[in-house]
Amino acid sequence: MKKRVSASAPGKLMLFGEHAVIYGDPCIVTTVDQRIRAEVERNGEDVFHLEAPDLGLEVYKKSIEDLGSEEMPKEVRFIERLYKNFLDKYPQDKGIIVETKSEFSSSFGFGSSSAVTVGFAKALVELYGLEFSKGELFDLCYGAVLDVQGVGSGFDLAAAIWGGTLYYVSPAKVVEKLEVGKLPLVVGYTGVKADTPTLVRMVRRLKEERQEMVEGVFGGIAEVVEEAGEVIEKGDWERAGGLMDKNQELLRKLQVSSVELEDLIEASEKAGALGAKLSGAGGGDCMIAVVEEKKRGEVEKEMDKVGGRALEVEAGVEGVRVEEAK
Ligand code: PMV
Repeated sequence: MKKRVSASAPGKLMLFGEHAVIYGDPCIVTTVDQRIRAEVERNGEDVFHLEAPDLGLEVYKKSIEDLGSEEMPKEVRFIERLYKNFLDKYPQDKGIIVETKSEFSSSFGFGSSSAVTVGFAKALVELYGLEFSKGELFDLCYGAVLDVQGVGSGFDLAAAIWGGTLYYVSPAKVVEKLEVGKLPLVVGYTGVKADTPTLVRMVRRLKEERQEMVEGVFGGIAEVVEEAGEVIEKGDWERAGGLMDKNQELLRKLQVSSVELEDLIEASEKAGALGAKLSGAGGGDCMIAVVEEKKRGEVEKEMDKVGGRALEVEAGVEGVRVEEAK
């Protein structure tokens, strides 16, 4: 019987297809080399004990009977909800201690909640010696996310589970690994934290008001995604950049871009990026640009000048993995 297990999962970046993916269209997502680690240990008491200092929670304890939702950072709510759902299916009378450690700030929009949810789920399943397929792990995580947040395509969970660069249709109906080499990306952080559920609801409202327009935009995004899948597998970065511009144009019509995002996009393109777009829900967080290696320094400098921050990330890294099991 295992006593302690730790697992880590990567953050993500949406490359193409945000928002439309909620309505059944495909998207392309990649992982980033910024991981969150979750360690779980049996504690011999009927208590759930959580320490997540990087997620804004020092020590939190609750009796197993009282598990449920409460006001706390959303990453932490995902963990508690997932644990509760897990225990409903696999009852245990003794609890666990959970500790999380993040390599990145939860403000960047790299998917700290999906990474921590997946890392925790994997560690939990391993601790109890269960054999879960990737699809089963996804279902466990997605269930918790929907319980807490009510919306979401699960693209970020899929990235954290399968790793690499994925062509994805929600909820994990299609998960296809794309064969891509190193992605020549520059990631720019706006400094503004965006709230994904709020933006998702805004688009839903816009769709109710202007259905035809929004459906047309989704159709356009779906075409971009299909083409982008082929183009990035070929390593045709010039065309990939053009498709990012096209995707961004469509996202503007959904009114999810922001001044800060536009400033960074413009700065990167002026400095020679092959194309750029927001990444994720919009309203803030990060943008991405396709940039040839020789232009990288210049692009980063220009983004810095307009108040952004270029983040060093490697894309397409391995998905969730067990780090230690004792
Ligand atoms: O804001 P992020 O990085 O979590 O991305 C959200 C992407 C959406 O398509 C808007 C929502 C979703 O769950 O797919």
